[in-house]
Amino acid sequence: MNTIASAAFINGNLIDLQPINFNHMHLYDKWGNDQEVRHLRHYEFPRSTDEVKERYLNSIKATDKYSFEVVHKKDGVPIGTCNLHEINWVSRTAEIGFFIGERKYWGMGLGTEIASLITSYAFQELNLRKLKAVIYSPNIASQKVFTKLDFHLEATLKGEEYIDGDYIDIHFYVKYRNASEK
Ligand SMILES: CC(C)(COP(=O)(O)OP(=O)(O)OC[C@H]1O[C@@H](n2cnc3c(N)ncnc32)[C@H](O)[C@@H]1OP(=O)(O)O)[C@@H](O)C(=O)NCCC(=O)NCCS
Repeated sequence: MNTIASAAFINGNLIDLQPINFNHMHLYDKWGNDQEVRHLRHYEFPRSTDEVKERYLNSIKATDKYSFEVVHKKDGVPIGTCNLHEINWVSRTAEIGFFIGERKYWGMGLGTEIASLITSYAFQELNLRKLKAVIYSPNIASQKVFTKLDFHLEATLKGEEYIDGDYIDIHFYVKYRNASEK
């Protein structure tokens, strides 16, 4: 496994958020194609390492998406990625995306810390007003993460998407920086 030498962009307790590392595209590809991970993220089609790299290269030029590599501090290894996407600089809104591709690191509180760090970054550093997490109904862990961070369920689309044999609901969890900014 690759070890990480560069300084953190955002320092956490158990994990750090660092810029996307183009030497780790094979890991991002492996994580994205993992069957359990991709069902929770609604990725039905296989992606090659080259395709993953191309997506990140395209997103470098975008001003509505910023991605990070998630690094486990103690072990010094990359374990996933997270991002802010669909950033609207006029409405000051964005959507959070995150996943831990190394499944042995699930259930340790790391997902909650990732979402907490990216939420603080969005509100405090980028001065955004409202954040959204779009979560498929079977994804209990993700719903727990955002509920713990005081996001609330603002809307549900019933039977909206077909995933692996079932039509599932999509939940929209949101958080406003200040209640007065709603
Ligand atoms: C969602 C994800 C990031 C959560 O990360 P995590 O580090 O496992 O989450 P945490 O350890 O912070 O746990 C958050 C809560 O979910 C619970 N939880 C974890 N896995 C769970 C599971 N499979 N089923 C039910 N609850 C679960 C934890 O017990 C915890 O609840 P608690 O605080 O009441 O104890 C991780 O599971 C993941 O990467 N999944 C695949 C991709 C994905 O779903 N991305 C999010 C798309 S919206």
